[in-house]
Amino acid sequence: MSLDLQALRDRVQALQQEIQESLQQVKTLDDLEALRIRYLGRKGEVTALLKSIGRLPQEARPAAGAEINRLKQWIQQEIQAARERLEREAQERIDLTLPGRPVEPGRLHPITRVFTEIIEIFKGLGFEVEEGPDVEWDYYNFEALNIPPHHPAREMQSTFFITDKMLLRTHTSPIQIRVMERKKPPLRFVAPGRVYRVDPFDPSHAPAFHQLEGLYVDRRVTFAELKGTLELFLREFFGPDTEIKFLPSYFPFTEPSAEVAIRWKGEWLEVLGCGMVNPNVFRAVGIDPEAWKGYAFGLGVERLAMVRYGIPDIRWFSENDLRFLRGYEP
Ligand code: PHE
Repeated sequence: MSLDLQALRDRVQALQQEIQESLQQVKTLDDLEALRIRYLGRKGEVTALLKSIGRLPQEARPAAGAEINRLKQWIQQEIQAARERLEREAQERIDLTLPGRPVEPGRLHPITRVFTEIIEIFKGLGFEVEEGPDVEWDYYNFEALNIPPHHPAREMQSTFFITDKMLLRTHTSPIQIRVMERKKPPLRFVAPGRVYRVDPFDPSHAPAFHQLEGLYVDRRVTFAELKGTLELFLREFFGPDTEIKFLPSYFPFTEPSAEVAIRWKGEWLEVLGCGMVNPNVFRAVGIDPEAWKGYAFGLGVERLAMVRYGIPDIRWFSENDLRFLRGYEP
């Protein structure tokens, strides 16, 4: 009888040895499952061993049962440990056959695209491109543009001052001054830029928006040329049949001054300001107003884009909502 129990113990030990070796061969979760079935499955070797207890003498059965259960628990633990190891390895392994994560192509912001389009039109008319700083001196933003301190025209633009002499530019016109200080006429350029005003955010106002300045200085420049150039630009941008009208206006740095309106879906909409360079502006930069003439204009880029695309709210340009940004593909 005890011999039989001993034989069972030997068998348990042999199995344990065998399983230990098999576990080392296991490479995949499928291998592991096959191993589990082979030993613990309904027809597995350990299961068969348990069934064989019935053939042992009565008094040997509890010891045999305990022995086999110990083996069974050990196998279960080993299998669990092997499973965890395999799963961890699977996670760490880089699967080169997986398709890559798609990278969406970026696109240019609608303002950038409209800027580019406008600038291309003016380049075609012989205009160069200039730029200036967003943080500007009071002198360039106002004084040199014929807006002295306390001049009521300052009230037209409520200003973000940084110090009492430094501010966020309220328009791109200071670039006129900077370029005329640096370069001798004749000059013909446009100047894109962001401008800032103490305005609330509402559908038609924003504290930051974009303008394109234009300046042409030569020996003989007439209002007719200004008119012709702007009409050409507006018909290029809004379509060849666009109706355009010039309305008298006031800017300290141009004389005479005008606002330009286009007829869009039956309504007259002002889209830009312009005029002949005021002689005081030429004097401020040391250009002789008797020898040189010029015209200047400034247009709001959001405004032009809103009219052309029917965008109802200027805030959409700065909200970074992809539904909007994707909606205005070229
Ligand atoms: N700077 C003016 C504005 O911001 C626009 C303008 C530019 C008008 C050039 C005339 C000439 O309103």
